[in-house]
Amino acid sequence: MKPIQLGVNIDHVATIRQARGTSYPSLIAAARQAIEGGADSITVHLREDRRHIQDRDVYELKNILDVPLNLEMAMTDEMLGIALDLNPAYCCIVPEKREELTTEGGLDVAGNIDRIKLVCDKLQQSGIRASLFVDPEQNQIEAAHQCEVSCIEIHTGRYAEAVDEGSEKLELSAIRDSARLAASYDMQVNAGHGLNCQNVEAIAGIPQIFELNIGHSIVSQSIFDGIKKSVVDLKALMLSARK
Ligand code: PXP
Repeated sequence: MKPIQLGVNIDHVATIRQARGTSYPSLIAAARQAIEGGADSITVHLREDRRHIQDRDVYELKNILDVPLNLEMAMTDEMLGIALDLNPAYCCIVPEKREELTTEGGLDVAGNIDRIKLVCDKLQQSGIRASLFVDPEQNQIEAAHQCEVSCIEIHTGRYAEAVDEGSEKLELSAIRDSARLAASYDMQVNAGHGLNCQNVEAIAGIPQIFELNIGHSIVSQSIFDGIKKSVVDLKALMLSARK
């Protein structure tokens, strides 16, 4: 069995660049350091408002990197067109609201089966691994299965933000149940959002989870340690949680 995989999200390297409209810090250099530290793939979210990642970034990363690129995107016609043209290895469909600070909750797959299935079919017919970002809820996993998607990413935000031990346990148990259910349908199970060195082990220890996508905590820690060491440290915790 493959060891648990880490996708490093570098959106917030672009946030720093966009804050001043400079050409630095370089996303390519950041991605290369993340890969040296053990990133198995690089994730970027091309938001509709282009607040951090720009169109040219996704093409540059796709052309230069030799690890899979995971494009996070809303399921709009514009984004679908870009994804089909770019042809990244992976695409993760996320809900998107312009005013939000970050992705706030999973997709309502159950309420949008026809549209989601159409988008996923188009991606999958192009050889792109499509994944749906969903809350750890049974009806959403069942709906993802109905869309015939091969992969889901479980939103770990509620677990990461739990304010006491009791709610953390409840959220963890919902993530475990969802991972088991999705795996029983032969879907690949990924997870992410809000994960860091303090809370990653319990999630990485869930045997059905194939890949974690982590961004903000890595870019934050890299202010002190650099990107490579921040990735090395986080990946070591993920791998040791599986032993
Ligand atoms: N997975 C998805 C689908 C996301 O939208 C995000 C945030 O961009 C992440 C993972 C990573 O979350 P964080 O930056 O909190 O690690």
